[in-house]
Parts: sequence; structure tokens; C-alpha cells
Amino acid sequence: MRRRTMLAALAAATATPLVASACDSQEDKGSESGTSDTLRFDPEKFTTETATVTTADGERKITYRQYKGIVYVAKPVDEQYQSLNVKVPVEIDGAAVDASKAPILLSNNIAGYMSGSVTGTGGMPGGLPPGATPPSGTVPGGPGGFNDGGNRTSNPDLALAAGYVVVEAGARGRDLVAADGVYYGVAPAAIVDLKAAVRYLRHNSGRVPGNTDWIVSTGVSAGGAMSALLGASGDSDRYDSYLTDIGAADASDAIFASADYCPIADLEHADMAYEWNWGGNPLQSGEQVDRTVSRELAGAFPAYQASLNLRGRDGSALTADNYGEHLLRTYLQPSATKYLKALPDSDRDSYLAANPWLRFDNGTATFTWADYLTHVGARKKNVPAFDAFDLSSGENNEFGNGTTKARHFTLYSLRHATGEANAQLDSDLPGKLELMNPMYFLDNQTPGRAEHWWIRVGTKDSDTSLTVVGNLAAKLENLGANVDAAMYWDAGHGSNEDAADFITWIRGITGYGR
Ligand code: DHB
Repeated sequence: MRRRTMLAALAAATATPLVASACDSQEDKGSESGTSDTLRFDPEKFTTETATVTTADGERKITYRQYKGIVYVAKPVDEQYQSLNVKVPVEIDGAAVDASKAPILLSNNIAGYMSGSVTGTGGMPGGLPPGATPPSGTVPGGPGGFNDGGNRTSNPDLALAAGYVVVEAGARGRDLVAADGVYYGVAPAAIVDLKAAVRYLRHNSGRVPGNTDWIVSTGVSAGGAMSALLGASGDSDRYDSYLTDIGAADASDAIFASADYCPIADLEHADMAYEWNWGGNPLQSGEQVDRTVSRELAGAFPAYQASLNLRGRDGSALTADNYGEHLLRTYLQPSATKYLKALPDSDRDSYLAANPWLRFDNGTATFTWADYLTHVGARKKNVPAFDAFDLSSGENNEFGNGTTKARHFTLYSLRHATGEANAQLDSDLPGKLELMNPMYFLDNQTPGRAEHWWIRVGTKDSDTSLTVVGNLAAKLENLGANVDAAMYWDAGHGSNEDAADFITWIRGITGYGR
């Protein structure tokens, strides 16, 4: 592990005077003002690469410039993770391409709240070693292609084939431990790093290829949650001290659009939401989870849901009582309808015969919430799904601190596990939970909030409650944001079934390339 100690980082910063003050604005030109700017993008430092990307319209042969392993902060804690790659298409199917004003797809490869590096070759998402199984199970492959960060979706490949600039950003994660035992990638490191990457791009507006006013973030699962948070918390001053500590450029970290695939977000409310959603579903083993714990958690959900004051698309209040209906009408039935309509007649007939609980009349699928839950079957996680009593979940680790690997981050689990009815969370936790939760920033109407949102999840994804996605989308819709939210029928965790539509969506919101 190439962790630079704080001392080494300080020494490096001292050896390069005016590092931080040289990067003070978007307009800053670094060396032009006679100062050294370690965050200055060098347009000449690239290699030329080729790739073949399979698109809906056939194969595209792409020649692109690759700027690899650029450290995006002046005082990195760990360069291996705090670095990014920029890919700029210059030729597609033999025709020259000018991507200097193109949208920038900012892809993170965070999975399981683990670190993500883009500097290596090969390997799995989230910095996992080649061949290792990610923590969450299903990881659908993209077309493979040239994504050495191993992004789980094919979005970066298709974006490059569409003539967009692709930036792959690494970030610290919960798995990183220094020689002194300090967990240096736990909350809020991942989001701080992604913000620093955005600031790096802004700082280099005009030097880095692409239009930095059109940064579109994309991520899956924990990476989807971080993508949502990036979109929700743009230019919030809540991260300032963390960003200063790592020498992030002094520039805007607001983004134009946020794409969030199965975001594992709103962690401090995820246990109650999970039991409200999947509480009656058995585990993979066929056993039921602890009924008392499940019921207690589910029992806390209605008050939480009510506190959000959300409205559905018809204007009515979204409550725990009508949430199943809301999901059916807004997402699940339209998703099944689309799926069934696209099937060849014989496949549709077989599907309907195998699923008699689902009605398909006049080209529209209808079913009940209870039947849908039965259809999904086994739940992925035990109870509590996130704040595990034995501190074994990835999220317990994500909220570790210093040399403490894992902590409780909900009062329910803390008190249950310790047996102390009045136990309180560590004093730093409420603030850190906010820094990790897009709902907090949406509630507080952060001015730099992204205007455009693409939100997706599979209907068989029980990594978190569907209400997490539903509430994110509803909150944004209630705020008047431009939201394209949908579910993939019968799809599991990490699915991306309409990547081509996503690229078309980017074209629509930017007007670029039409
Ligand atoms: C991921 C999956 C989870 O179930 C979870 O709790 C956190 C992250 C993931 O796939 O990134």
C-alpha cells in the first residue's frame, strides 16, 4: 500500500510553494501567474489507445487519448486511489472527432464502500483483486472493453463511442488501513475524493478536454449512492475542511447530472426501510429472520417516511401505508409492462403461464404488492441489514473511525447490541451520517444541486429497500429537478439494461451532438 504519511505529504507541499494558493479559482491559470500549480492538467501527456465498443448500432472502432493516473489533489493521502484517468475520443470509425466541448462522463468504480483505483490494469471494481468476489454478490459485466477500472456498467464505453470525454475517478474506501492501524478511507473519504476529482476538472476548465459545465456522474450501488451524493451536495461548505486537508483545488464541485444505479443510500434509515420492504421475505436458506427485530425496525419506518413529507406524482402524500401502491403504479407495473411488451409472443406466453399472479390485459401488467414480494423471494440480507449487531457489515466498517474498524451508526443497533437503553452514538457520527446522505442535502436545498437525474434499480434487487430509490426520486421530483427514474423488471443488483438510453438522455439534457 503506497500510503504517504501526512508528514511526507506536508514535505512535498512545502517543497512546492504556493501549491494550495495557486489553485484558487476556476479561472486560475497556474503557471501564467508565475506560480507552480501541481493540479494543472497537461494536455500533452497522453498515450494513444484503441478500443472496439459494441453499441446498439454495431461495433465502433475508437481511437482515444488516455491521460492515466493523474493525482487530483495536491496533498494526497494515497495516490493510488486519489487519481483519475481521462479518455478523449479523437477518431471513431475512421472519422476525426473533436471532444473538446463534449459532455464529461465521470465514472466512479466504488463498490461495497471499498476503495476504487483506476491506476492498475485489470482487476475488479472497488479495488478488489482480480478474481475476487465483490461483497454484494451479483456483478453483471459490461462489455469488458477497456475499462481498466472495471466499472460495472457499460456507460463509460458507450459514452466514449458517443464522442464524450470519460473520466474514471478512483477514491479511498473503507478497506484501506495504514501501517499504524488507522482506517484512512472510511466516511466521508469517498465523497470527499470524488468532490476533489470534480474540482480538479473545474480547475482545469479549458485545459482538460470536455465541457466542465456538463459533468455527468455515474456509479453503481455504493458508487451509485456516492454519485447521488455528488449530485445532491454540490458546493456545500460542509466538506471544506476535508477538501482543504487533501489539497483539493479551490473550485466548484457542483455537477450537471447524476446517474445513480441501485444507490445504497440513506444508510441510517436503511434498516427500518429494509424490514418494511423485505421483512416478510425469507432468507436464501428459507428461514425467516428474527421476527421481533424485523417487526421493531419495520415499526419505526412509518414515522420516518412521514417525516420526509414527500408527495407522489399525483400530489398525494407518500406514506408507509400507500408506499406499496406508489411503487406498483410508478415503477413496478410500468416496468413489467415494458418487459412483457418487448418479449416475443411465445416467451411472453410462457412467462405469464409461469407467473399467474401477474395479469397482462390490454398490454398492461397489473399485480399486487404482496404477490410482487412473493415473486422476488429470498431477501439478500439478514436483520438488521446494515447496522449489524455484530458489527460485521460493510457499513459498520464505513463508519469506523481512526483505528476502530467498525461502529454502530443507528441507536437501535447500538442499544440492542450493548444492552444499554440510553447509549448514544459517538459524537462525530451524526455529522458524518449527514455528509454521506444525499437526502440530507436535498432536504437542505443545497444551491449546487445537480439539475438532471437518472435513477435505476432492478426489481429483484434486495440489497436495500426500494423506498431508498423511491424516496430519492420523489424528493428530487418534489424539488422540481429533472428526474428519469425507472426500474428494470426481474433484474438483480447492479443491473444496467438501458445504457444506450442513458447516452441518448445525456444528448437530450446537454443538446450536444444533435
Ligand atoms: C453494495 C452492496 C450492498 O449490499 C451494500 O450494503 C453496500 C454496497 C455494493 O454493491 O456496492
